Amino acid sequence: MVTGASSGIGEAFARRLARDGFQLILVARRRDRLEQLARELGGAETLAADLALEPDLARVAARIASAAELELLVNNAGFGTKGRFWETPLDGQDRMHRVHVMATLRLTRAALAAMVPRGHGGVINVSSVAGFGQSPGNVSYCASKTWMNSFTEGLDLELRGAGSPVRVQALCPGFTVTEFHDVLGMSREGIPSWLWMRAEDVVDASLRGFERGQLFVVPGGIYKLVVTLEKLAPRWLRSLAVVRASRRRRRPAG
Ligand SMILES: NC(=O)c1ccc[n+]([C@@H]2O[C@H](COP(=O)([O-])OP(=O)(O)OC[C@H]3O[C@@H](n4cnc5c(N)ncnc54)[C@H](OP(=O)(O)O)[C@@H]3O)[C@@H](O)[C@H]2O)c1
Repeated sequence: MVTGASSGIGEAFARRLARDGFQLILVARRRDRLEQLARELGGAETLAADLALEPDLARVAARIASAAELELLVNNAGFGTKGRFWETPLDGQDRMHRVHVMATLRLTRAALAAMVPRGHGGVINVSSVAGFGQSPGNVSYCASKTWMNSFTEGLDLELRGAGSPVRVQALCPGFTVTEFHDVLGMSREGIPSWLWMRAEDVVDASLRGFERGQLFVVPGGIYKLVVTLEKLAPRWLRSLAVVRASRRRRRPAG
C-alpha cells in the first residue's frame, strides 16, 4: 500500500514497486489520478480517501487489516504549510498533524499487527530532512516530521528487541521535484537547481536502504552532509544561525 500515490514521491514508489512485481493498493484523495495510474500500471486497487478524516482513515486501516499478505506500507501522504504558527490558519496545521502523525500511527499499527506475527514485511515512513531540526515558518511541518523520525526509530528498537525481522524506515528527502511546492504555493525559483532531487532517485535510495535494513535514509550527498552538520552543531549554534537567517529573510528589500 502506498498513501499519497496520486503524485510525486508516492507515484514514483507506485511505479517502481509495480515494476518490481508488487500488487498495489493506491491511496489518496484524487480518485481520477489514482485510477489513471492504476490503468497505466496494468491494474492496481485504488482507495480514494482523505486521511485527515476519521471515517476515511478507519476505512484504509480496515483495508490493511483485511490484506493478510500486505508486504509493504509506505506512509507517504503529506503536505506543507507556510507562515508563522500563530498567524497561519489552525485548520491546515490540524489536518497536517492528522495526516503526518495520526494516519501514520493508525496505518502502521494496522500493518504491524499482522506483519510481526507473520514474521515478514515492512513500513516506510516518508519524513523529511526537516525532521532533524526546526525552522521558522515551518514549525508544524518540522514537528510532525520529527515525530515521524522518532516514531520510526522507536518501532525499530521494539522490533529488533523482539527479534522480529520486520523492518521500518524513515525516508528523509530534501527538496524533491513534485507537486509539493505547487500545493504550498511556493516558487521553486529561489532554490538552486543543484539542491533539487528527482522523485525516482529518492525512491531508489529508499528501496536500496530498505534492502540493507537502513533505519534513516537521507537521499543525496548534499543532504547527508547537511544532516551530519546539523547533528554535530550544538543546539545554541543551530538556533542562532536559524534565527539570524529568518530575520534576514524578513528584512524589507532595499
Ligand atoms: N517534495 C519535497 O521537496 C519533499 C521533501 C521532503 C519530504 N517530502 C514528503 O514527501 C511526501 C510526498 O510529498 P510529495 O513531495 O510527493 O508531494 P505531492 O506531489 O504534493 O504529493 C503529496 C501526496 O499526498 C497526498 N495527500 C495529501 N493530503 C492528503 C490527505 N489528506 N489524504 C490523502 N492523501 C493526501 C496527495 O494526494 P491527493 O491530493 O490526491 O490527496 C499526493 O498524492 C510528503 O509526506 C512530504 O512531506 C517532500
